[in-house]
Amino acid sequence: MHEFRYRNNELYCEGARVSEIAEKFGTPLYIYSRKTLLDHYRKIKRALRSINPLICFSVKANSNLALLKVLANQGAGMDVVSGGELYKALKVGVNPKKIVYAGVGKSEKEIAAAIRAGILFFNAESFAELALIERVAGRLKKKANVSLRVNPDIDPHTHKFITTGKMTNKFGLDIKTCEEIFLRCGIIFSHLSLIGLHIHIGSQITDRLPFVKAIKKMLVLIKRLRQRGISLKYFNIGGGLGIVYRDERPQSAEEFAQAVLPLLRATKLKIILEPGRFIAGNSGILLTRVVYIKKTPNKNFAIVDAGMNDLIRPSLYNAYHEILPVVRNAQYAIRTTHYDIVGPICESADFLAKNRPMPALRAKDLLAVMGAGAYAFAMSSNYNSRPRAAEVLVNKKGRALVRKRECYRDLIRQEIIPRNL
Ligand code: LLP
Repeated sequence: MHEFRYRNNELYCEGARVSEIAEKFGTPLYIYSRKTLLDHYRKIKRALRSINPLICFSVKANSNLALLKVLANQGAGMDVVSGGELYKALKVGVNPKKIVYAGVGKSEKEIAAAIRAGILFFNAESFAELALIERVAGRLKKKANVSLRVNPDIDPHTHKFITTGKMTNKFGLDIKTCEEIFLRCGIIFSHLSLIGLHIHIGSQITDRLPFVKAIKKMLVLIKRLRQRGISLKYFNIGGGLGIVYRDERPQSAEEFAQAVLPLLRATKLKIILEPGRFIAGNSGILLTRVVYIKKTPNKNFAIVDAGMNDLIRPSLYNAYHEILPVVRNAQYAIRTTHYDIVGPICESADFLAKNRPMPALRAKDLLAVMGAGAYAFAMSSNYNSRPRAAEVLVNKKGRALVRKRECYRDLIRQEIIPRNL
């Protein structure tokens, strides 16, 4: 469910007319609905209320400060994977005790910043990383809290690029190694407190079963650790809940809760979740304008002003995003023309949709690419020296620019032409 709906054949975001926002701020443009964002945060929180989990929004999905602030104001924590994400989370006033830090390649500088900030814990992914955290904590004369990220070797049945919990992936530690580290931690590491376990098996997972399987594997590990006198405080079950882009039928928050709650309760640990897509995915659209219609002997191309630099998911994962006309005209009902909806970038992989049935399109038509709240702007780039799009947040009081459109000066801001060239 989301707050992008037609009224009199015109697309609205909450109470705001999308075409009016386009006129004011130009295209390509990201538009987010505050209500949709909050509704999804509350949905997952409510479904699991009986165990009062800490919901750490996965900042990688959408790191716009205004959106982070909306969630922080509701008491959300944050899951970060870089010094930059940590910086942004702290910037919007998230309590450091609600920040968890994952990722296989944390640098010394990033580790030091997180220890200084006093985050809740690191999700450590290798022995070498533990050794580095130990050294940095020692130097800072602090004790660092750490959870071990376990790779439970579960197939989440999602796209292979976003599968993270199989043993062939680079993430986490195998169960046996984790157990050994827990048993020896006190002897080897004097500046680490191992306080929890973490899993994250993949993203856009539509079925409950992989989550259940992974959690069950962890219950066995938790029991074994308890038998050996090791007590934990936290169990971080990661993110990964799928959403509807097309015709997927993902588990609802309630169905997910029903499946996992009995297992999670049994752990008696504080539960943490790291949803990104579930909270932000359907809260945003990418608005783009048709520049040209180009008919070739084989195809109809609608060339639009947003490209793979603005939204890379179709090119990278062959991901499907629904594309809707912002104004539905008389031809809307007759979906006869198939278009490749492509961007201006000089790559054949630059497409938003292939062979998509659409109403007859004309130059200047506005199109809304749906499901662009997560992994959309966050993965955008300046490829082809294209300034990145602006972002607008709509709430019940109106709309506000939350990121300015980049200009040409922004493209060269960090570049240097040496004098002696
Ligand atoms: N926690 C960890 C440790 C993660 O690596 C991720 C996502 C999440 C939480 C949040 O997962 P979510 O709830 O959003 O599924 N760019 C891809 C998705 C990559 C996800 C990477 N990790 C896409 O556009 O589909």
